[in-house]
Amino acid sequence: MIVIGSDHGGYELKEYLKAYLKEKEIPFVDIGCDGQSCDYPDYARIAVQKILSGDCEKGILCCGTGIGISIAANKYAGIRAALVSEPVSARLATEHNNANILCFGGRVTGGALAAACVDAWLEAEFLGGRHAARVHKIEPSAY
Ligand code: RB5
Repeated sequence: MIVIGSDHGGYELKEYLKAYLKEKEIPFVDIGCDGQSCDYPDYARIAVQKILSGDCEKGILCCGTGIGISIAANKYAGIRAALVSEPVSARLATEHNNANILCFGGRVTGGALAAACVDAWLEAEFLGGRHAARVHKIEPSAY
């Protein structure tokens, strides 16, 4: 299950990606927003809770640039949120970083490109090995 959320700046892209996930029969839960002016940290927190609780495996978050919502999501231990705008980075976000959240800027990246990123991210597999050791060093327990 994928959790998908946004603030108002990422709302249109979120709706586009929801339609895309639906078409591909990938299950998701939409945590909002509904297009109203709101604060991206609130939606980052709700999405993170869904992942850390085990309700959802991965998440997609959008704000205007993708910057604020990725910064907010990455404040939580166990979250690896990758802000991407092209599929190579999206694939590597899984292969090297085991990213459990993909972030987009709705005012930056078009729907079709974002959808291609989602595909690349979901189709890839974490390569483990040296990358696992590096990812482990990111966790607060390793500081
Ligand atoms: C909202 O106007 C905008 O600041 C927000 O969506 C995001 O781009 C912040 O990083």
